[in-house]
Amino acid sequence: MSDLYAVMGNPINHSKSPQIHSAFAEQTQQDLIYSATLVPLDGFEHAVQEFFRNAHGKGLNVTVPFKEEAYQLAQIHSPRALRAGAVNTLKRHEDGRIYGDNTDGLGLVADLTRNLQISLSGKRILLLGAGGAVKGVLEPLLAEKPAQIVIANRSIEKAIDLAKAFSDIGNVTGCGFAQVQGYFDVIINGTSASLQGDLPPLPSECVASHTQVYDMMYGAEPTLFMQWAKQQGAKAAYDGLGMLVEQAAEAFLLWRGVRPQTAPVMAGIRAKLLKPAAV
Ligand code: ATR
Repeated sequence: MSDLYAVMGNPINHSKSPQIHSAFAEQTQQDLIYSATLVPLDGFEHAVQEFFRNAHGKGLNVTVPFKEEAYQLAQIHSPRALRAGAVNTLKRHEDGRIYGDNTDGLGLVADLTRNLQISLSGKRILLLGAGGAVKGVLEPLLAEKPAQIVIANRSIEKAIDLAKAFSDIGNVTGCGFAQVQGYFDVIINGTSASLQGDLPPLPSECVASHTQVYDMMYGAEPTLFMQWAKQQGAKAAYDGLGMLVEQAAEAFLLWRGVRPQTAPVMAGIRAKLLKPAAV
């Protein structure tokens, strides 16, 4: 029987992970089945235990809102998962223990530096938001040795606390949106504001003509934040589809020992996104 993998979340019906991992498996000729599981909000631990009770259950991806619970549940953690306090990838070790990793930050950095050719070293980066999404990407971003990361968030205290928690590994400070000063080379939106049709209220001076903007969200249309950035004169604005595919590739590597090619998979998903839904 094939090895089994799944993504668990709530909601889960729009997850692209089954499509991405099935494409990876086909490309690398790995014999596996990957499915999406809707887990009740109070049923994550039970669902994980049931999944791994099956001897063929090898690994899980974990998405909103279970990444912190997955962290609690994992028996061994990668250093980056420990730092993030959140886990998006679980793997059953040979001895039966559950290993937790977080590949979100690697996915973001791979998309920025490899796919989009944006060098982060020595750059001034503005990171918007202070929730799980931002926590998960801070360590890999700081590992690229930017000159500075400013975390700006609606709740100012959260931005300041998060910056403090990472200040031993780089130059990182926290503030509110109104306190953002000067312009940035790279601006990354890790808030969920666009889900409510909102924009973080940033001073327009933070965007210069060479500024490149990245939104961790994605959709068929450029996000509200990307549109705003272009209106302020940003050089380019990208969505988070590449991050999604790259974090999946890192999970696949952890599980199967082979890193798939991401470009064709990204192109396939982009093409499907742009296709009008059937009526
Ligand atoms: P995630 O795991 O996706 O990061 P989260 O932990 O709930 O989700 O965090 C959501 C982030 O988006 C937070 O930084 C939140 O700001 P607060 O900490 O002030 O709540 C931010 N956010 C959500 N809605 C927003 C909005 N309408 N405007 C600006 N920021 C918003």
